[in-house]
Amino acid sequence: MVKLGINVDHVATVREARRTIEPDPVEAALLCEKAGCDSIVAHLRVDRRHINDDDLCRLRKRVKTRLNLEMSIDDEIVAIACDIKPDQATLVPEKRQEITTEGGLDVVGGSKDIKKAIDRLKEQGIEVSLFIDPAKDQIEESKRIGADIIELHTGAYANSSSDGETNRHLKELSEATRLAKSIGLKVAAGHGLTYKNTKPVRDIEGIEELNIGHSIISRSVFVGIGTAVKEMVELMR
Ligand code: PXP
Repeated sequence: MVKLGINVDHVATVREARRTIEPDPVEAALLCEKAGCDSIVAHLRVDRRHINDDDLCRLRKRVKTRLNLEMSIDDEIVAIACDIKPDQATLVPEKRQEITTEGGLDVVGGSKDIKKAIDRLKEQGIEVSLFIDPAKDQIEESKRIGADIIELHTGAYANSSSDGETNRHLKELSEATRLAKSIGLKVAAGHGLTYKNTKPVRDIEGIEELNIGHSIISRSVFVGIGTAVKEMVELMR
């Protein structure tokens, strides 16, 4: 069965809309685990717009599955990660004005700095994943500079506006997965996945984990987070 990682950032987004103490992303993470997810994902952004340092410390103490810290290669954030020691770090590009992570990391263009961050994290025993577009050169460079995992960006697939486009993106994801596996990388995927569009990605041979946030947290407003997670866990079968 494909594993499900749940990104709890948007629980903190609701909290930060009022700068108060509820809803608590840590409490949400524990309910997600109880409902059967395989890991918890949280993004500590440089601007701290949702998850903050205290959330991260509390997540580290209480998450029993795996904690996957999404992060940029900013020096201060890398130092925090080395201190907190999540089970996994997923390196993503980060721009101040973006609404959410746009596009994958340019591993080819930024390999020197990305490798430096990978080396620091791996020295602390943290598994490192790189969030990239499904492109051959990005995959090969990820392997070369020491990544353990790649997470394929499914945003273009999720935003497709025709069947032809959807199928083209699925083919790219599938070919990227095959290449990555053949050179010894583990493969995850995520971004923009919903209850409607997840199945074809789940079915790609070789994908081990899907990381999903917005759709699950949105659905939880109506059905509760336990039910929302269970419905997505069912979709992983
Ligand atoms: N994976 C990565 C690397 C991401 O940056 C995000 C968004 O924070 C997700 C998965 C989850 O995306 P979504 O919230 O669209 O499900």
